[in-house]
Amino acid sequence: MTTKQIAVLPGDGIGSEVTSVAETILKAACAAYDVDIQTKNFLFGGCSYDEHGTPVTDDTLNSCLQSDAVLLGAVGGPKWDDLPSDHRPEAGLLKLRKTLGTYTNLRPIKIYSALMGASSVKPEILEGTDILIVRELTGGIYFGQPRHTKEVDGDTVATDAMVYSKSEIERVARKAFEAARKRNGRLCSVDKSNILDTSRLWRQTVSDLAGNYPDVELSHMLVDNCAMQLIRNPGQFDVILTGNMFGDILSDEASMLTGSIGMLPSASIGDKTGLYEPVHGSAPDIAGENKANPLAAIASAAMLCRYSLDLSDAADNIEAAIDDVLATGYRSGDIYASTQGEILIGTKEMGEKVFGELKKKAITR
Ligand code: IPM
Ligand code: MG
Repeated sequence: MTTKQIAVLPGDGIGSEVTSVAETILKAACAAYDVDIQTKNFLFGGCSYDEHGTPVTDDTLNSCLQSDAVLLGAVGGPKWDDLPSDHRPEAGLLKLRKTLGTYTNLRPIKIYSALMGASSVKPEILEGTDILIVRELTGGIYFGQPRHTKEVDGDTVATDAMVYSKSEIERVARKAFEAARKRNGRLCSVDKSNILDTSRLWRQTVSDLAGNYPDVELSHMLVDNCAMQLIRNPGQFDVILTGNMFGDILSDEASMLTGSIGMLPSASIGDKTGLYEPVHGSAPDIAGENKANPLAAIASAAMLCRYSLDLSDAADNIEAAIDDVLATGYRSGDIYASTQGEILIGTKEMGEKVFGELKKKAITR
């Protein structure tokens, strides 16, 4: 039996409900491969601010760095919306990503056939859609300097800087080329190179790397066109590579192809500890009501197995268990279309259903 240490940061709102379900699934999936998962919980986001006056303490950051992986829920909520920017829960998340050096964020857009009807996009448009969004996560306008709000000539002026270096673009682009190589061999790099200098450097840098990956077909697309193409013909994409802010926006848009943002997992990887979190937010409106969809958190636990523990079989089992539960008709509120055969269930019950399917797979492996 090997032991792996996982830092769990439930965060705010529905975060604790979805991570506790994901934790149970993670432990069960890994136990089947003789890996013992030991978890330790830490306050993170608004709840950490309430307790410690900061959204993330240095102790928590160090514990995350020393773990084998970090499983995160969600942060934020109206209670902390008016705090100065560096105390906000979101600032804690950016600090965590930067500290862990997770410059590559993988957001798979997988369409479960059972959920075709739950999407706001027609099934015939969704046919064949399977996209991996690779979002740069520790640079760009989220981190650029200068950043300030000042009085200038009697007016108030706010500045955020979009900054990218060639080396920052290269390291995430390599990850995207490698991912495309393992999938269908197509990479679409998305930028705004008709306007932005950072985008022109982005496009040039990605193009320069393409020679090292002759088996990958590289294309470029402007971000506004990409936003349109994702809804018009999502099947044309295999891997999408883009910067921090464009990736944030495009991944929320793409989540609607799957039926709900409650279905979207993510993995953030780099040189140090990997960070796994659902793409959705803390949903304060339904927090504590056992209504949240835990499937994105569970699917994030699957990515954790794959990328941080090298347990791709455990990851496959979790993903197959999700498939089976959806195929049987179980739905959380966000993916419930009230058609025949669908059964509306809560967060914990959804976790139990996935657990049940997973157990069957672990026994028959
Ligand atoms: C995401 C979220 C975060 C981001 C927020 C909560 C800071 O929207 O992970 O997509 O913008 O990166
Ligand atoms: Mg986002």
